Amino acid sequence: MLSYRHAFHAGNFADVFKHVVLHCALECLVRKPTPLLYMDTHAGAGRYALDGHMASSAREADGGAARVLAESGAPAGVGHYLAQIRSMNPPGRLTHYPGSPEIARGLLRDEDRMVLCELHPADHAALAALFAQRPRTQVLASDGLAALKSQLPPAERRGLVLIDPPYERAEEYRLVATALPEGLKRFATGTYLLWYPRLPGDAAAPMLKRLGNGLSAPTLRLELALGPAGDRPGMDGCGMLVVNPPWGLEAAMREALPWLAAHLGRRGARTKIEWLVPPRAN
Ligand SMILES: C[S@@+](CC[C@H](N)C(=O)[O-])C[C@H]1O[C@@H](n2cnc3c(N)ncnc32)[C@H](O)[C@@H]1O
Repeated sequence: MLSYRHAFHAGNFADVFKHVVLHCALECLVRKPTPLLYMDTHAGAGRYALDGHMASSAREADGGAARVLAESGAPAGVGHYLAQIRSMNPPGRLTHYPGSPEIARGLLRDEDRMVLCELHPADHAALAALFAQRPRTQVLASDGLAALKSQLPPAERRGLVLIDPPYERAEEYRLVATALPEGLKRFATGTYLLWYPRLPGDAAAPMLKRLGNGLSAPTLRLELALGPAGDRPGMDGCGMLVVNPPWGLEAAMREALPWLAAHLGRRGARTKIEWLVPPRAN
């Protein structure tokens, strides 16, 4: 059963973190002229009205995207993401927030292909309508982790795969820990972004341990914690593994993440940028 709806959370701190990393990674990749595949295994609805009936009571974006939009002096990686958010909103207001497929569409070229998987019927229908006019785009009502098998390797031999499950079932951590290395076997040079929550009890730890031991490609671990460990209930931080990070991403993150921590976090907010699997020395 799919109970998670991303519209309740759109634009929150976790979206800002995830979408800044995604934006920067794609910016690095599109510097090369050759076409690529963008695959989103858990794509959501693609775009969210923040005054819609699902978001209005919560407005999680007020502690996320709205907060960073009000700041000046953002480093380039964050600034380009903010410019994309501003371009789809009235001046000085945040009424709509882009999901990961829309963030990606803003950076991709006409020759780049998109494969977007979304299982929730209503979100799939919204996503299919939003991308109906884009050539070279498939919107699949398929299990995104299973689709890694059918879609990889891409004909382009270049690409980025975003894996962004809701983790509403504990087994999703285990499924991801199996699917990502299998995807990497099929498409060894691809860039993979895997988002995970930081929760009390550290539910993601066994998955990260398995991936740290099992992945065969350089993997960067990025994290944002909004405050000191354990002083708040619920999700108080999140992270992203970046397998085969494109050149330039690590440097961009060293500027972007401390800025995000300073503007989204509390006293004691922290960031982590380290190699889960270091690049092999030549
Ligand atoms: C965290 S949200 C995705 C947010 C989106 N990636 C973004 O950044 O805007 C996770 C989405 O995955 C969908 N979903 C859950 N299980 C899925 C599966 N096995 N395959 C594809 N989509 C799934 C949910 O319906 C939900 O819309």
